[in-house]
Amino acid sequence: MLRSAFRAVTRGATLAVPRTSFSSQIARTITTRATQFPLNTGGRIPALGFGTFQDADAQEDAVSQCLKAGFRLIDTAQVYNVEKEVGRGLKKSGVPREEVFLATKLWCNTFHPDDVPAALDASLEALDTPYVDLLLMHYPVVFQRGEERFPRDASGKMLLGKTTFVDTWKAMEKLLESGKVKALGVSNFSQGEIQKLLDECSVPPAVHQMEVHPYLQQQAFNGWLKEKKIHVIQFSPLGNMNPFYRQTGWSKDIAHTTPPITESPLLLEIGKKYNKTPVQIALAWGINNGRSVIPKSVVDWQIEQNLEADFELEAADIERISVMDQKARFNDPSADYQYRLYSDLEGIEGTKEGFTH
Ligand SMILES: NC(=O)c1ccc[n+]([C@@H]2O[C@H](COP(=O)([O-])OP(=O)(O)OC[C@H]3O[C@@H](n4cnc5c(N)ncnc54)[C@H](OP(=O)(O)O)[C@@H]3O)[C@@H](O)[C@H]2O)c1
Repeated sequence: MLRSAFRAVTRGATLAVPRTSFSSQIARTITTRATQFPLNTGGRIPALGFGTFQDADAQEDAVSQCLKAGFRLIDTAQVYNVEKEVGRGLKKSGVPREEVFLATKLWCNTFHPDDVPAALDASLEALDTPYVDLLLMHYPVVFQRGEERFPRDASGKMLLGKTTFVDTWKAMEKLLESGKVKALGVSNFSQGEIQKLLDECSVPPAVHQMEVHPYLQQQAFNGWLKEKKIHVIQFSPLGNMNPFYRQTGWSKDIAHTTPPITESPLLLEIGKKYNKTPVQIALAWGINNGRSVIPKSVVDWQIEQNLEADFELEAADIERISVMDQKARFNDPSADYQYRLYSDLEGIEGTKEGFTH
């Protein structure tokens, strides 16, 4: 059964309210929550969010349904080609705009500083909203500017631009004054690249959206980001559940050999204790570590299940999940993008060539 949303109240640094209690058939009483985390902007971000990469035709209904069910964080991006559908879903849900934390991402062909304001305006128009709560730089890679999202030469090699991600960030900083953006963040950055922004720019990123799941825990980097007060949104929080990682041109061997988390014996075992599925345990693991998670699904029962993933995991169970860290990074288009991504981070072995699209 779908649950209604609850307004969060302040309780220390982490904000949480009970959402619902489970029935007496279950041995333990699990209270699901609607946790919100503070951002370094003074704003807040929900722990549990909704990803919108792929399945454009289904996203209007999926976004509407997830909002009606209680999700309050929607993650999208220009390059997903779903911003219009997300905007329509938001309207269709009837949930007031101010109750929703909406994040989108600039794509790499719009990173020239002169192109950044128009790129944001295009997103706002597609999303049919006067502002976004979070604007992310999708990658630290600057593609050649122009209409082509994936500008390639005759041999298929990606063409890069002449400016840097620092130039892009400085242009993004200026957007804050317009009120069209409430917070700024980055995605797929290395530690060194974030340090460069901290050294050379005025506004520190509020968020780093990066790949984190039980198979790629990035504990040291997550610790560093926490110290710097940069909130983490875990993308692909279910690891290689997304078939994209087995189908893309640069699909790594590890994406084919790692079993889906739904089959993880450890997550199944921990799940029995809480009467939760491995997916719910994986999401709760991220939230209990202080991070937001944005699972994608366009399937009704999965959306409902994912909404019930914000609950307290005992410290001992969080610790047990550490053994699943294979440093398996599935999202690594470095070779296609002509740029060594994640250079100082874990899991860059096995990077393959091959086109993204
Ligand atoms: N910043 C970046 O570069 C970046 C990169 C990747 C993703 N993202 C963001 O992160 C979001 C999530 O990442 P993702 O889509 O790669 O992976 P994910 O959310 O970890 O996994 C999605 C897959 O898991 C399935 N699934 C969802 N809930 C399930 C459940 N309860 N039980 C069983 N299967 C379930 C989905 O099935 P169905 O498709 O059948 O519903 C889908 O195939 C994206 O949508 C996007 O917003 C950002």
